[in-house]
Amino acid sequence: MAVDSNTLEMLRSDTGPALDLSWLEGVELTDRIAPSKRGLILSDIAAARADTAPEHSENLSLRPRGTRQILNATRVAMRLRDKADTWAENCALLYEEALARQWSSATDIPWETLKPLPDDLELAMCQLCTHLCEVEFTAADVPGQWIPAISPDHFEVKLFLATQAMDEARHLEVFRKRALANGGGLMRQSADSAASALRSIMDASDFTEMSVITHVVGEGQVLTMFRMGEFVGLSEAEKKIFRLVAQDESRHVAFGVMHLKYIAEHQPWRREEIHSYLDRAEPSLVMHKGGRIFGTAFTERLEPLIMLLGGGRDHLNEGMTSIEEITRRMVNEYMQRLSVAGFGDRRGRCIPAIEPYLEPTRS
Ligand SMILES: [Fe+2]
Ligand SMILES: [Fe+2]
Repeated sequence: MAVDSNTLEMLRSDTGPALDLSWLEGVELTDRIAPSKRGLILSDIAAARADTAPEHSENLSLRPRGTRQILNATRVAMRLRDKADTWAENCALLYEEALARQWSSATDIPWETLKPLPDDLELAMCQLCTHLCEVEFTAADVPGQWIPAISPDHFEVKLFLATQAMDEARHLEVFRKRALANGGGLMRQSADSAASALRSIMDASDFTEMSVITHVVGEGQVLTMFRMGEFVGLSEAEKKIFRLVAQDESRHVAFGVMHLKYIAEHQPWRREEIHSYLDRAEPSLVMHKGGRIFGTAFTERLEPLIMLLGGGRDHLNEGMTSIEEITRRMVNEYMQRLSVAGFGDRRGRCIPAIEPYLEPTRS
């Protein structure tokens, strides 16, 4: 049903204030959309209105997708206007899942289960949490800085990145709380090599470069580590922190994998470019050899982990064995994700340091 010209004329000639009402011209009313069992989610709306993100956006304003254009709108330069620049087919669903699974570090963690620990274990947990505060802060900053560059025609990606920033903010504060809550405190900031790995994420000048390094390599690593939280956590509070953070991280990794898959399927000529990002990021997967950590690389992550996994300063060899197991899992989960993304060929051209950890593919 359209708003007809008679109705408009009547409204304009009414005795009230003189209104322009041109926003009503040419409007067509359509069928209503009923909520489904899942509620009224974005994909329901998109399906009912045949509302899909365009392959390329000519929108140089803040105009939301599906609205009528006005030619004198203020121009805003969006750098990323091709769908393949940022898109992942799961981004709307990941956004909905993020909304449904928000949690509170204040009330969802059983803080009362924290108990006094031997000094070595308490300080190791505090150092690990201090390092994670630094990592999480970067993972909140980085996606946030890309949001304004993305076209409003691809708004689902913007929404997902906004939830990632919120998730990372919560991760920062839950690890900060744990460091400060049990008699230890914040410890030392990360050494140069860890900091420069974070810096390389911040300095990425292309969205896909950022996503490969952050979502696929970096967050893939921490996801594997958080999934081992049952062994790292010393109380139910810590185990629950790792479980909930892993739940969030799995969304961030899933976005990166599906973005990469979109590139593999729609812009196959970018494969070598993607491999160059992997060449640069892959060394962070293996930071030790023969029981020794390389230089100062990730000292603030690996050494406390060795102490926590082993069970204290008298069990460092056992802790190192556990690090080897985590590394094996990290490497194989990483390779599996790349295979899902259409980059199974990475297995044949990965850096030498990770080859000893590779397991045969399951057919
Ligand atoms: Fe995080
Ligand atoms: Fe994350």
